[in-house]
Amino acid sequence: MIPSVRPAVLEDVPSIARLFLESFDPDLHPFLTQAQRGASRFMSLPFLYPHMHGHHRVYVVTISGRIAGYADFRLMSSGQGFLSYLAVASWARGRGLASSLIHKFLSAEPMTTLTLDVFTSNVAANALYEKIGFSHGPVTTWATRELPEATVPEAIGAFSVQQAAFDTYGFSEFLTESGSSPERFGRIGHRVLRCFNTSTFENDRQLARVRASFPQMKIAFGTFDSNTMPAVPHEVIVRSERRVLTVSPQANPSGPSSETKLETQYHDED
Ligand SMILES: CC(C)(COP(=O)(O)OP(=O)(O)OC[C@H]1O[C@@H](n2cnc3c(N)ncnc32)[C@H](O)[C@@H]1OP(=O)(O)O)[C@@H](O)C(=O)NCCC(=O)NCCS
Repeated sequence: MIPSVRPAVLEDVPSIARLFLESFDPDLHPFLTQAQRGASRFMSLPFLYPHMHGHHRVYVVTISGRIAGYADFRLMSSGQGFLSYLAVASWARGRGLASSLIHKFLSAEPMTTLTLDVFTSNVAANALYEKIGFSHGPVTTWATRELPEATVPEAIGAFSVQQAAFDTYGFSEFLTESGSSPERFGRIGHRVLRCFNTSTFENDRQLARVRASFPQMKIAFGTFDSNTMPAVPHEVIVRSERRVLTVSPQANPSGPSSETKLETQYHDED
């Protein structure tokens, strides 16, 4: 059977959510918003409210009608694309499907660059991106630390709204209300507190207060580049690298629906 790539539709979301989950090491699930229990609901949003997600492009590749892989792209400003995630089911790997998903996006959109983040330890994905021609870029470190003991509960802005988001999707964001300026945090599942910068990750006093607001929280989590690594003791869980593909003008000479120069080989014997 010849694989076929098409834009994703709402009905594909459960398969996409399953592929996402299956493609990650379970040890990383606690730190991924889209691995939480409301992931399918969250992934449905671009299909339910397309007018709010005009920059979003999701493609699936099917074999005999069965979803074998998907890729989730964003259109950034001025011809820049971002590949948010790409996964092929284990039973369908090694047949050129990931390449065909990237090829489809580049031939449909007049891109000058395509950027992505990939774990440095991901041999298959790095080989794929190397083959296509993505350059190497800066490395980001994912790190965790145990939260300090809870003290006085932090005041949480719009508490009930963030709680509704948390109950729906399994993750949420909030702003603290004490102190001179609000600080932004995220909740990923019940145990993980997402810190968006080094100073909040290092701030024992504030972390202890946030933990008191959400008593099941145990771990602070953040992503840092080499210049912003936290000074407090932490555990490195994984590293990702930013990689960029410069798309040659010949690759998409007339924009949408033209062919790219990326080779797409289907090795399907069915
Ligand atoms: C990475 C992944 C998407 C590749 O999908 P795929 O459909 O098997 O990839 P393709 O068949 O298009 O491979 C194209 C090229 O990538 C390289 N490649 C792919 N898988 C490889 C592997 N396991 N080992 C070494 N090279 C590999 C090869 O150069 C291959 O070309 P070749 O078949 O001519 O040798 C797939 O393994 C996957 O879903 N992994 C889990 C999720 C993931 O890591 N996603 C990437 C997130 S950044």
